[in-house]
Amino acid sequence: MDIFDEVKDSKQKFQEELSELPIDEKAIEDFRIKYLGKKGIIKHYFNQFGKVPNDRKKEFGKLMNSFKQEVTQAVESLEQKLNEKQKKQEFFDYTLPGTRPVEGSIHPLSKTMDDILNIFKDIGFSTELGPEVETDYYNFQALNFPENHPARDTQDTFFVEDDVVLRTHTSPIQVRTMEKQKPPIRILAPGRTFRNEAIDASHYCTFHQIEGLYIDKDVTFSELKTTLYLFVKKYFGEEIDLRFRPSFFPFTEPSAEVDISCFKCGGNGEQCSLCKGSGWLEILGCGMVDPNVLSASDIDPEKYTGYAFGMGIERIAMLKYGIDDIRLLYGSDKRFLKQFKQL
Ligand code: DAH
Repeated sequence: MDIFDEVKDSKQKFQEELSELPIDEKAIEDFRIKYLGKKGIIKHYFNQFGKVPNDRKKEFGKLMNSFKQEVTQAVESLEQKLNEKQKKQEFFDYTLPGTRPVEGSIHPLSKTMDDILNIFKDIGFSTELGPEVETDYYNFQALNFPENHPARDTQDTFFVEDDVVLRTHTSPIQVRTMEKQKPPIRILAPGRTFRNEAIDASHYCTFHQIEGLYIDKDVTFSELKTTLYLFVKKYFGEEIDLRFRPSFFPFTEPSAEVDISCFKCGGNGEQCSLCKGSGWLEILGCGMVDPNVLSASDIDPEKYTGYAFGMGIERIAMLKYGIDDIRLLYGSDKRFLKQFKQL
Protein backbone atom coordinates (compact mmCIF):
# COMPACT_ATOMS: atom_id res chain seq x y z
CA MET A 1 0.00 0.00 0.00
CA ASP A 2 1.57 3.33 -1.03
CA ILE A 3 1.24 6.49 1.03
CA PHE A 4 -1.71 7.69 -1.07
CA ASP A 5 -3.64 4.54 -0.29
CA GLU A 6 -2.71 4.88 3.38
CA VAL A 7 -4.12 8.40 3.51
CA LYS A 8 -7.29 7.34 1.71
CA ASP A 9 -7.69 4.47 4.08
CA SER A 10 -7.21 6.79 7.05
CA LYS A 11 -9.83 9.19 5.64
CA GLN A 12 -12.26 6.34 5.40
CA LYS A 13 -11.63 5.32 9.02
CA PHE A 14 -12.03 8.92 10.05
CA GLN A 15 -15.49 9.06 8.48
CA GLU A 16 -16.53 5.86 10.20
CA GLU A 17 -15.33 7.09 13.58
CA LEU A 18 -17.01 10.42 13.07
CA SER A 19 -20.36 8.84 12.36
CA GLU A 20 -20.26 6.98 15.68
CA LEU A 21 -18.80 9.70 17.88
CA PRO A 22 -20.98 10.70 20.86
CA ILE A 23 -21.56 14.41 21.52
CA ASP A 24 -19.50 14.36 24.63
CA GLU A 25 -16.74 16.74 25.69
CA LYS A 26 -14.09 14.12 26.36
CA ALA A 27 -14.86 12.05 23.25
CA ILE A 28 -14.63 15.12 21.01
CA GLU A 29 -11.37 16.30 22.58
CA ASP A 30 -9.78 12.83 22.24
CA PHE A 31 -10.92 12.71 18.63
CA ARG A 32 -9.44 16.16 17.91
CA ILE A 33 -6.09 15.21 19.48
CA LYS A 34 -6.01 11.91 17.61
CA TYR A 35 -6.29 13.65 14.21
CA LEU A 36 -5.11 17.23 14.71
CA GLY A 37 -2.75 16.98 17.72
CA LYS A 38 1.02 17.51 17.57
CA LYS A 39 1.50 13.76 17.31
CA GLY A 40 -1.74 13.27 15.45
CA ILE A 41 -2.54 11.44 12.21
CA ILE A 42 -2.58 14.54 9.98
CA LYS A 43 0.79 15.68 11.28
CA HIS A 44 2.14 12.16 10.78
CA TYR A 45 1.25 12.19 7.08
CA PHE A 46 2.53 15.71 6.54
CA ASN A 47 5.82 14.49 7.98
CA GLN A 48 5.93 11.85 5.22
CA PHE A 49 5.98 14.57 2.56
CA GLY A 50 9.70 14.09 1.88
CA LYS A 51 9.14 10.47 0.90
CA VAL A 52 6.61 11.34 -1.80
CA PRO A 53 8.12 11.34 -5.30
CA ASN A 54 8.61 14.88 -6.60
CA ASP A 55 6.12 14.51 -9.44
CA ARG A 56 3.35 13.53 -7.03
CA LYS A 57 4.14 16.06 -4.28
CA LYS A 58 1.50 18.48 -5.54
CA GLU A 59 -1.15 15.79 -5.63
CA PHE A 60 -0.20 14.64 -2.14
CA GLY A 61 -0.33 18.23 -0.82
CA LYS A 62 -3.85 18.60 -2.19
CA LEU A 63 -4.98 15.32 -0.71
CA MET A 64 -3.58 16.17 2.71
CA ASN A 65 -4.96 19.71 2.72
CA SER A 66 -8.41 18.48 1.95
CA PHE A 67 -8.11 15.77 4.63
CA LYS A 68 -7.00 18.33 7.18
CA GLN A 69 -9.82 20.67 6.23
CA GLU A 70 -12.36 17.91 6.48
CA VAL A 71 -11.17 16.97 9.98
CA THR A 72 -11.02 20.59 11.14
CA GLN A 73 -14.55 21.29 9.95
CA ALA A 74 -15.86 18.08 11.51
CA VAL A 75 -14.29 18.93 14.88
CA GLU A 76 -15.67 22.48 14.75
CA SER A 77 -19.12 21.23 13.99
CA LEU A 78 -18.89 18.69 16.83
CA GLU A 79 -17.83 21.43 19.23
CA GLN A 80 -20.75 23.55 18.17
CA LYS A 81 -23.17 20.69 18.72
CA LEU A 82 -21.68 20.12 22.17
CA ASN A 83 -22.07 23.78 22.97
CA GLU A 84 -25.74 23.75 22.02
CA LYS A 85 -26.34 20.62 24.03
CA GLN A 86 -24.75 22.16 27.12
CA LYS A 87 -26.76 25.35 26.69
CA LYS A 88 -29.95 23.34 26.51
CA GLN A 89 -29.06 21.55 29.73
CA GLU A 90 -28.29 24.79 31.48
CA PHE A 91 -31.56 26.34 30.46
CA PHE A 92 -33.94 26.62 33.36
CA ASP A 93 -37.47 27.82 32.92
CA TYR A 94 -38.18 29.96 35.96
CA THR A 95 -41.82 30.29 35.01
CA LEU A 96 -42.52 26.58 35.53
CA PRO A 97 -44.45 25.78 38.69
CA GLY A 98 -42.14 24.40 41.39
CA THR A 99 -42.31 21.02 43.06
CA ARG A 100 -43.04 21.46 46.75
CA PRO A 101 -40.94 19.44 49.17
CA VAL A 102 -43.05 17.24 51.42
CA GLU A 103 -43.58 19.18 54.62
CA GLY A 104 -44.20 17.68 58.02
CA SER A 105 -46.68 19.16 60.45
CA ILE A 106 -47.00 19.47 64.20
CA HIS A 107 -48.97 16.56 65.63
CA PRO A 108 -52.30 17.74 67.08
CA LEU A 109 -51.32 16.27 70.47
CA SER A 110 -48.05 18.21 70.59
CA LYS A 111 -49.89 21.34 69.55
CA THR A 112 -52.51 20.86 72.27
CA MET A 113 -49.86 20.17 74.87
CA ASP A 114 -47.79 23.24 73.88
CA ASP A 115 -50.79 25.57 73.79
CA ILE A 116 -51.92 24.51 77.27
CA LEU A 117 -48.42 24.73 78.74
CA ASN A 118 -47.97 28.20 77.27
CA ILE A 119 -51.18 29.53 78.84
CA PHE A 120 -50.03 28.38 82.28
CA LYS A 121 -46.46 29.49 81.69
CA ASP A 122 -47.75 33.03 81.23
CA ILE A 123 -49.20 32.95 84.75
CA GLY A 124 -46.07 31.66 86.43
CA PHE A 125 -46.19 27.86 86.18
CA SER A 126 -42.93 26.07 85.36
CA THR A 127 -42.67 22.55 83.91
CA GLU A 128 -41.56 19.37 85.69
CA LEU A 129 -41.09 15.92 84.18
CA GLY A 130 -40.99 12.48 85.75
CA PRO A 131 -40.39 8.83 84.84
CA GLU A 132 -42.95 6.77 82.92
CA VAL A 133 -42.09 3.67 84.92
CA GLU A 134 -43.00 4.47 88.51
CA THR A 135 -42.96 2.79 91.87
CA ASP A 136 -46.21 1.98 93.61
CA TYR A 137 -45.20 4.55 96.22
CA TYR A 138 -45.22 7.54 93.84
CA ASN A 139 -48.10 6.40 91.66
CA PHE A 140 -50.40 5.47 94.56
CA GLN A 141 -49.24 5.45 98.13
CA ALA A 142 -47.89 8.98 98.44
CA LEU A 143 -51.02 10.19 96.66
CA ASN A 144 -53.21 8.81 99.40
CA PHE A 145 -54.33 5.63 97.67
CA PRO A 146 -53.98 3.19 100.59
CA GLU A 147 -52.82 -0.31 99.76
CA ASN A 148 -55.70 -2.52 98.62
CA HIS A 149 -58.01 0.51 98.48
CA PRO A 150 -60.73 0.19 95.82
CA ALA A 151 -59.73 3.59 94.36
CA ARG A 152 -56.78 1.79 92.75
CA ASP A 153 -59.28 -0.15 90.69
CA THR A 154 -60.20 2.96 88.75
CA GLN A 155 -56.66 3.18 87.40
CA ASP A 156 -56.41 -0.04 85.31
CA THR A 157 -52.76 -0.41 86.07
CA PHE A 158 -50.05 -2.09 83.97
CA PHE A 159 -47.67 -3.76 86.42
CA VAL A 160 -43.98 -4.15 85.62
CA GLU A 161 -43.25 -5.84 88.95
CA ASP A 162 -45.21 -6.16 92.16
CA ASP A 163 -44.57 -2.58 93.18
CA VAL A 164 -43.39 -1.10 89.89
CA VAL A 165 -45.99 0.20 87.44
CA LEU A 166 -46.33 2.16 84.21
CA ARG A 167 -47.60 5.42 85.64
CA THR A 168 -51.36 5.66 85.34
CA HIS A 169 -51.34 9.46 85.68
CA THR A 170 -48.83 12.31 85.88
CA SER A 171 -49.76 13.00 89.52
CA PRO A 172 -46.61 11.18 90.80
CA ILE A 173 -44.68 14.21 89.54
CA GLN A 174 -46.47 16.23 92.26
CA VAL A 175 -44.88 14.03 94.86
CA ARG A 176 -41.42 14.05 93.27
CA THR A 177 -41.54 17.84 93.07
CA MET A 178 -42.71 18.30 96.66
CA GLU A 179 -39.86 16.07 97.80
CA LYS A 180 -37.17 18.16 96.20
CA GLN A 181 -38.65 21.65 96.40
CA LYS A 182 -40.24 23.55 99.27
CA PRO A 183 -43.24 25.87 98.77
CA PRO A 184 -44.10 28.02 96.99
CA ILE A 185 -44.46 25.39 94.24
CA ARG A 186 -46.22 26.23 91.03
CA ILE A 187 -45.71 23.56 88.39
CA LEU A 188 -47.24 21.81 85.44
CA ALA A 189 -46.37 18.18 84.85
CA PRO A 190 -47.00 17.01 81.29
CA GLY A 191 -46.34 13.48 80.09
CA ARG A 192 -47.38 10.11 78.79
CA THR A 193 -49.49 7.81 80.92
CA PHE A 194 -50.64 4.19 80.55
CA ARG A 195 -53.75 2.23 81.40
CA ASN A 196 -54.82 -1.30 80.72
CA GLU A 197 -58.04 -0.27 79.01
CA ALA A 198 -60.15 -2.06 76.44
CA ILE A 199 -59.35 0.01 73.34
CA ASP A 200 -62.24 1.77 71.64
CA ALA A 201 -63.02 5.17 70.10
CA SER A 202 -62.47 6.98 73.39
CA HIS A 203 -59.99 4.73 75.24
CA TYR A 204 -56.44 3.82 74.42
CA CYS A 205 -53.71 2.01 76.33
CA THR A 206 -51.53 5.10 76.38
CA PHE A 207 -52.45 8.77 76.51
CA HIS A 208 -51.14 12.07 77.86
CA GLN A 209 -51.97 14.21 80.83
CA ILE A 210 -51.05 17.58 82.21
CA GLU A 211 -51.06 17.90 85.95
CA GLY A 212 -51.04 21.27 87.69
CA LEU A 213 -49.96 21.92 91.28
CA TYR A 214 -49.80 25.10 93.33
CA ILE A 215 -48.74 25.05 96.97
CA ASP A 216 -48.17 28.07 99.16
CA LYS A 217 -49.50 29.71 102.30
CA ASP A 218 -53.23 30.44 102.12
CA VAL A 219 -53.96 28.96 98.71
CA THR A 220 -57.76 28.73 98.38
CA PHE A 221 -60.33 26.94 96.26
CA SER A 222 -61.35 30.28 94.78
CA GLU A 223 -57.82 30.70 93.39
CA LEU A 224 -58.16 27.29 91.77
CA LYS A 225 -61.44 28.39 90.24
CA THR A 226 -59.95 31.65 88.96
CA THR A 227 -56.97 29.88 87.40
CA LEU A 228 -59.10 27.31 85.60
CA TYR A 229 -61.57 29.99 84.55
CA LEU A 230 -58.73 31.90 82.93
CA PHE A 231 -57.43 28.74 81.24
CA VAL A 232 -60.82 27.77 79.79
CA LYS A 233 -61.53 31.26 78.46
CA LYS A 234 -58.08 31.50 76.90
CA TYR A 235 -58.01 28.03 75.40
CA PHE A 236 -61.62 27.42 74.37
CA GLY A 237 -62.86 31.02 73.96
CA GLU A 238 -64.43 33.85 75.96
CA GLU A 239 -67.97 32.67 75.24
CA ILE A 240 -67.39 29.29 76.90
CA ASP A 241 -68.86 28.75 80.38
CA LEU A 242 -67.58 26.39 83.03
CA ARG A 243 -68.98 24.66 86.06
CA PHE A 244 -67.46 22.76 88.97
CA ARG A 245 -69.12 19.48 89.93
CA PRO A 246 -68.29 17.80 93.26
CA SER A 247 -66.29 14.63 92.76
CA PHE A 248 -63.80 12.37 94.48
CA PHE A 249 -60.06 11.81 94.09
CA PRO A 250 -57.91 10.26 96.84
CA PHE A 251 -55.30 13.02 96.57
CA THR A 252 -57.62 16.05 96.79
CA GLU A 253 -60.22 17.14 99.30
CA PRO A 254 -62.58 18.65 98.37
CA SER A 255 -62.45 17.48 94.75
CA ALA A 256 -64.33 18.59 91.68
CA GLU A 257 -64.67 17.90 88.01
CA VAL A 258 -64.82 20.78 85.58
CA ASP A 259 -67.24 20.87 82.68
CA ILE A 260 -67.29 23.44 79.92
CA SER A 261 -70.38 24.48 78.01
CA CYS A 262 -70.63 22.50 74.79
CA PHE A 263 -69.28 24.55 71.90
CA LYS A 264 -71.09 22.45 69.32
CA CYS A 265 -74.64 23.18 70.49
CA GLY A 266 -73.81 26.36 72.42
CA GLY A 267 -74.75 24.63 75.67
CA ASN A 268 -78.44 24.03 74.99
CA GLY A 269 -77.86 20.32 74.36
CA GLU A 270 -80.53 20.05 71.69
CA GLN A 271 -79.87 16.91 69.64
CA CYS A 272 -76.16 17.40 70.19
CA SER A 273 -73.99 14.39 69.41
CA LEU A 274 -70.96 15.88 71.14
CA CYS A 275 -72.37 16.54 74.63
CA LYS A 276 -75.07 13.86 74.26
CA GLY A 277 -77.75 16.39 75.03
CA SER A 278 -76.36 17.55 78.38
CA GLY A 279 -74.96 20.86 77.14
CA TRP A 280 -71.71 20.19 79.07
CA LEU A 281 -68.37 18.53 78.33
CA GLU A 282 -66.13 17.23 81.09
CA ILE A 283 -62.53 18.39 80.71
CA LEU A 284 -60.61 17.89 83.94
CA GLY A 285 -60.43 16.89 87.59
CA CYS A 286 -59.20 19.14 90.38
CA GLY A 287 -59.31 19.93 94.06
CA MET A 288 -57.43 21.07 97.15
CA VAL A 289 -54.39 18.90 97.84
CA ASP A 290 -55.29 16.42 100.57
CA PRO A 291 -53.34 17.11 103.85
CA ASN A 292 -52.18 13.46 103.76
CA VAL A 293 -50.43 14.11 100.43
CA LEU A 294 -48.65 17.17 101.82
CA SER A 295 -47.54 15.30 104.96
CA ALA A 296 -46.28 12.33 102.96
CA SER A 297 -43.81 14.71 101.30
CA ASP A 298 -42.87 16.53 104.49
CA ILE A 299 -44.86 19.66 103.83
CA ASP A 300 -46.70 20.88 106.90
CA PRO A 301 -50.46 20.97 106.11
CA GLU A 302 -50.98 23.36 109.02
CA LYS A 303 -48.77 25.91 107.28
CA TYR A 304 -49.45 25.28 103.61
CA THR A 305 -52.40 24.55 101.38
CA GLY A 306 -52.50 23.87 97.69
CA TYR A 307 -54.61 23.00 94.73
CA ALA A 308 -54.08 20.48 91.94
CA PHE A 309 -55.73 19.69 88.65
CA GLY A 310 -55.25 17.10 85.96
CA MET A 311 -56.46 16.79 82.40
CA GLY A 312 -56.20 14.32 79.56
CA ILE A 313 -54.62 15.85 76.46
CA GLU A 314 -56.24 13.47 74.00
CA ARG A 315 -59.68 14.38 75.28
CA ILE A 316 -58.97 18.11 75.03
CA ALA A 317 -57.49 17.73 71.52
CA MET A 318 -60.47 15.66 70.40
CA LEU A 319 -62.90 18.28 71.69
CA LYS A 320 -60.96 21.20 70.27
CA TYR A 321 -60.44 19.74 66.79
CA GLY A 322 -63.59 17.63 66.50
CA ILE A 323 -61.76 14.27 66.38
CA ASP A 324 -64.17 11.44 67.07
CA ASP A 325 -61.80 8.50 67.53
CA ILE A 326 -58.76 8.53 69.84
CA ARG A 327 -57.07 5.86 67.70
CA LEU A 328 -56.62 8.41 64.92
CA LEU A 329 -54.15 10.22 67.17
CA TYR A 330 -51.93 7.14 67.26
CA GLY A 331 -52.41 5.85 63.72
CA SER A 332 -49.72 7.94 61.97
CA ASP A 333 -52.07 8.21 58.99
CA LYS A 334 -50.76 11.08 56.88
CA ARG A 335 -54.22 11.81 55.49
CA PHE A 336 -55.37 12.54 59.02
CA LEU A 337 -52.26 14.42 60.12
CA LYS A 338 -52.18 16.57 56.97
CA GLN A 339 -55.36 18.27 58.12
CA PHE A 340 -53.48 19.87 61.01
CA LYS A 341 -50.84 21.55 58.87
CA GLN A 342 -52.28 25.02 59.31
CA LEU A 343 -52.30 24.86 63.13
N1 DAH B 1 -54.71 11.99 88.31
C1 DAH B 1 -56.10 12.02 87.96
C2 DAH B 1 -56.41 10.90 86.99
O1 DAH B 1 -55.57 10.51 86.24
C3 DAH B 1 -56.46 13.34 87.35
C4 DAH B 1 -56.50 14.39 88.39
C5 DAH B 1 -57.70 14.67 88.99
C6 DAH B 1 -55.38 15.07 88.79
C7 DAH B 1 -57.80 15.62 90.01
C8 DAH B 1 -55.45 16.03 89.78
C9 DAH B 1 -56.66 16.30 90.38
O2 DAH B 1 -54.39 16.71 90.21
O3 DAH B 1 -56.74 17.23 91.35
O4 DAH B 1 -57.49 10.41 87.01
